[in-house]
Amino acid sequence: MCVVRKPKHGGSDMGQGILMPKRSNGASVPNTSALVAETGLARVGSSLQMSGVRLSHIAEAVGTPTYVYHAEVIREQYHRLSAAFAGVSHRICYAVKANSSLAILRLFQELGAGADLVSAGEMHRALAAGFAPEQLVFSGVGKTATELRQAIETGVGQINVESQEELTRLGDIAQELDRPVSLGLRVNPDIPTATHPYIATGDSSAKFGIPMEQAALAGSYIQRHPKLTLSSLAMHLGSQLVEVEPYVRGVRSLLEINDALRRSGIDTVNVVDVGGGFGIPYDGVSEGGIDIDAVGEAVCELLRPTALEVVIEPGRFLVGNAGVLLTEVQYRKHAGGKTFLVLDCGMNDLLRPALYRAYHHVMELETQGRPEEDVDVVGPACETGDYLALGRRMPAVEAGERLAVLGAGAYGFVMSSNYNSRPRAAEVLVDGGRFGVARQRETVADLLRGETPDPVSSP
Ligand code: LLP
Repeated sequence: MCVVRKPKHGGSDMGQGILMPKRSNGASVPNTSALVAETGLARVGSSLQMSGVRLSHIAEAVGTPTYVYHAEVIREQYHRLSAAFAGVSHRICYAVKANSSLAILRLFQELGAGADLVSAGEMHRALAAGFAPEQLVFSGVGKTATELRQAIETGVGQINVESQEELTRLGDIAQELDRPVSLGLRVNPDIPTATHPYIATGDSSAKFGIPMEQAALAGSYIQRHPKLTLSSLAMHLGSQLVEVEPYVRGVRSLLEINDALRRSGIDTVNVVDVGGGFGIPYDGVSEGGIDIDAVGEAVCELLRPTALEVVIEPGRFLVGNAGVLLTEVQYRKHAGGKTFLVLDCGMNDLLRPALYRAYHHVMELETQGRPEEDVDVVGPACETGDYLALGRRMPAVEAGERLAVLGAGAYGFVMSSNYNSRPRAAEVLVDGGRFGVARQRETVADLLRGETPDPVSSP
């Protein structure tokens, strides 16, 4: 039922799915049927279905806005990724930040994945979903002393350090707790990538990672420290990457650093962590995603001659196209020579269009056979930047009809907020033709929890 596209393309610089092929009038041309296949959705009669479940049925049962995730697509993406790296010993550590729903984490835990974390909050989620501490990798540029202490006490498998300052802090805490710590050095290999500047992390102007030239110093600090062992060299070049070459250059840099460390007597590294960042097509146009088989092949070729294990930390690739956001059109409004569809979801629910001008495909849950028109699809928040799609060609839907916003499985709910005091959406998991609510819709009571109107009482 769910068909996951086999890529047959090279990369292009289609950062964030913003750039797309153009019609002669300059408008973008998504490939709807490819996108439907990529997302595991199916149009059966007039109804958009996920794993045989009508999405309009979920919208009726749970309300809108609601995020809906397709478990079978997630599993297929996982197996597809694992197959791409089958040439070497590898471990997939799912980047929890992409979608931290317990139901999603449990899926990955059952698949045998590890988890990549960036906060103590994510660590608690991963543990609650059933991950063993040793399956966890703790990354992140700003770990607090409390977070490092919790990670050590919990027995997190690997802590990826991003600066000499963090290394010193970690060393002090390991000493104080008298606990051994296996760590990774996240290096910044200074490699530019063709993606949105907000999510490019592997060039030297970014805050991430230890500069290459400081790796030797960090290595000798670790070697001299009684509690620390350097077990991994890591990188993460950015997100929504569509080119293979940066991964090749990055892995080469990590191998060079490892050679230099070995020459100075540090031979404890047994893992190369290539990070995540594998791009996906948001519009069904094949060039929008990375050729994951080519990445796997290239990385395996470089690492096969070594005894090093590969860790990958993907988020978006595994869950991005497995999720949709269901919404209901509130108003069909005409103003300034344009038609606006005003939805019951907005930038507080799905921030990506407002923040990165990201493209998300929008489809009717039930087709009505209406002619197409150009519309601005906007949210209810009090900001002109609150939109899902601008100048989008789509069937002329009416108020009261429901839509699916595609590509919403990664960096969707996790980046949602209560802006304008809007309760956050519900989350639903669909698996094997059945669905269940993974997270209840927030209520107004949730919004007020922990607040008082009179925090300063008079003496
Ligand atoms: N590892 C590290 C250290 C990361 O910082 C990230 C993502 C990942 C792995 C996973 O990257 P992925 O495979 O999902 O590309 N909010 C943005 C994306 C921010 C990504 C941050 N780091 C968006 O909506 O596009």
